[in-house]
Amino acid sequence: MNYQLLDFPIHGDHNGNLIALEKGKDFPFDIRRVYYIWGTKSDIIRGKHAHKNLEQVIVCVSGSCDFVLNNGTVKETVHLDNPSKGLYVKHNIWREFTNFSKDCVLMVLASEYYSESDYIRNYDEFLKESRG
Ligand code: TYD
Repeated sequence: MNYQLLDFPIHGDHNGNLIALEKGKDFPFDIRRVYYIWGTKSDIIRGKHAHKNLEQVIVCVSGSCDFVLNNGTVKETVHLDNPSKGLYVKHNIWREFTNFSKDCVLMVLASEYYSESDYIRNYDEFLKESRG
């Protein structure tokens, strides 16, 4: 499926841990937008969309949650609970995310500016496009 789990190098010492993400280094695209999500109740299902072109790397910087990724044929669940991992989701993947811990904070690094026209929010339309 069109996703990967990236392992970011940690600069760890007695002060704690630090991860730096720089354009062209340890990162698959030029970042145009960053947003973050927190305070979502455990049983809420967010997402429920795919993107036509956008690529994203999702980092669970605190707590945990589950991402259900679906390419129209196969569904896979990825549990995120480690700030040194980045879930790299490419285009044409339907994503739903849920099971948020109380302290869950998701930071999303995106390859494009926000554009509603890049979203596919209708599941039937997604299936039609993915089976193309
Ligand atoms: P949405 O992408 O539907 O959230 P999620 O998939 O996490 O449930 O976005 C929620 C709202 O925030 C929607 O009204 C669009 C707005 N929004 C922006 O204005 N800019 C952004 O970069 C994002 C991601 C969302």
